Amino acid sequence: MERTFIMLKPDAVQRGLIGAIIARFEGKGCKLVGMKLIQVDRTLAEQHYAEHRGKSFFEPTVAYIMSSPVVAMVWEGKNVVAIARELMGSTNPAVANPGSIRGSYGMDISRNVIHGSDSVASAEREIGLYFSPEQLLSYTKAGEDWLSE
Ligand code: TYD
Ligand code: MG
Repeated sequence: MERTFIMLKPDAVQRGLIGAIIARFEGKGCKLVGMKLIQVDRTLAEQHYAEHRGKSFFEPTVAYIMSSPVVAMVWEGKNVVAIARELMGSTNPAVANPGSIRGSYGMDISRNVIHGSDSVASAEREIGLYFSPEQLLSYTKAGEDWLSE
């Protein structure tokens, strides 16, 4: 089953949005298989955003995710990488669909509430940065057999 890495960024934690955002994923039908509240250090932040090194927003974005605790999560489900990106909405909350998470809870691209892996390969890389294999749980969730054929 596919897995994706989701981070509730410092603004989401500080603004008291953890529960509301997790509810979007639970309501959709995604299964939570790993979660922790952590303070990201510079080494991890730079690894997280390695693909953006050299761009103008690299340093501010690294500083932002180090600035306060974040919630790191792994969610599982059929096509969950693409489904999570749809739930999140466009990178810039100012233009994201207002029904999406970023569209509901953000105003500016520099504080866009949530991170989600952009491909299955990115998900594997990002999950490996934040979680060891034994921190990810396999279990049967009530109702999961009602989500698809
Ligand atoms: P990116 O990977 O393009 O977006 P996404 O998070 O949707 O995968 O960019 C990573 C983060 O960098 C993005 O969430 C917010 C920040 N960022 C800016 O601050 N300014 C920008 O112009 C871009 C493209 C991103
Ligand atoms: Mg990205």
